[in-house]
Amino acid sequence: MSTEQVYIFDTTLRDGEQVPGCKLDGKTKLIIAKQLDEMGVDVIEAGFPISSPGDFQAVQNIANVVKNASVCGLTRAVKKDIEVAAEALKSAKKPRIHTGIGTSDFHIQHKFKSDREKIIERAVEAVAYAKTFVEDVEFYAEDAGRTDNEYLARVCEAVVKAGATVLNIPDTTGYCLPEEYGEKIKYLKENVKDIDKAVISCHCHNDLGLATANAIYGAMNGARQIECTINGIGERAGNTSLEEVVMIMKQHPTLNLHTNIKSKMLNEMSRLVSDSMGMGVQANKAIVGANAFAHSSGIHQDGVIKNRETYEIIDPAEVGVSESSIVLTARSGRAALAYRAKNVGYELSKLELDKVYETFLTFADKHKEIKDEQIHEIIKQSNL
Ligand code: KIV
Ligand code: ZN
Repeated sequence: MSTEQVYIFDTTLRDGEQVPGCKLDGKTKLIIAKQLDEMGVDVIEAGFPISSPGDFQAVQNIANVVKNASVCGLTRAVKKDIEVAAEALKSAKKPRIHTGIGTSDFHIQHKFKSDREKIIERAVEAVAYAKTFVEDVEFYAEDAGRTDNEYLARVCEAVVKAGATVLNIPDTTGYCLPEEYGEKIKYLKENVKDIDKAVISCHCHNDLGLATANAIYGAMNGARQIECTINGIGERAGNTSLEEVVMIMKQHPTLNLHTNIKSKMLNEMSRLVSDSMGMGVQANKAIVGANAFAHSSGIHQDGVIKNRETYEIIDPAEVGVSESSIVLTARSGRAALAYRAKNVGYELSKLELDKVYETFLTFADKHKEIKDEQIHEIIKQSNL
């Protein structure tokens, strides 16, 4: 059965860069954008051009160099924003303007002090205006996660009629449950006239730790673009993590979905972003965390040494990690010790291993982790 493509829209340089302390200079943004392009992302959201001269320049520079991906600039539903974004994107091979407005009653009443009908008018005007500059216009219905589905469908229908090519349905506050978000996408698929003229996009935040699950539920219900960031960075608790959605689709062929991401570049990409932003990746982060392929308990280590797949669902090479690691701690067993000792040159018999293991345990109780150098010392002290 042929699988359908889910487009990967990377917003590391826009939503990701909104993280306090993660500001990047123009040169670094360019390096990241080139690497994202090489890795196969379909759309790079390069910034919010009206927000500052530096961001305008960064979007312009990225538009100049990106070869394959669409380059996108964010705007509010404001004419000046759209004009500035269009200017910044002028040299892009595939320019996209991303415009939109809040559609939940919270946003309509408290942020805009407006009403639902006027918001639809502003949305349509913004899309129609953006269309005068570029063909590819993505519309975001901010806080769609808390917008009632019937009204959201009316907004979507109006902007599709005005020419929107992509409908972004953000769960801006990370509120939705996966089924609820999936239902929302399904509702739009079934109730918006001419919905097939636009691609539905998931943009999920991680306030409840559900950003990845929600994006996947969205795709399972008909969305064909996922907005995400490297390492899941982004406003507050972050966005859907690019590496997670890519590997979920890869590991679950029954979803019948695929992306064009070269997954072998994921680990390197993760490091580039974390080093550039000075934002470490938590050790237990899925796919790219330092412990994602590290085994430390004796039972797991014994299994992995016999066959990696006993405790690993992903071959580390698939995501650019050279090998699984067997970490030696006081919880490790003989199999792990023998394996690591062999790696540094000691082939131990069963009797020798028993002796060395006793010494190892006294060392391991004093240290968090036993390194290769200490193995030599342990063997020496075991008087074999
Ligand atoms: O979270 C959000 O709603 C956004 C929009 C601006 C797309 O980032
Ligand atoms: Zn966002």
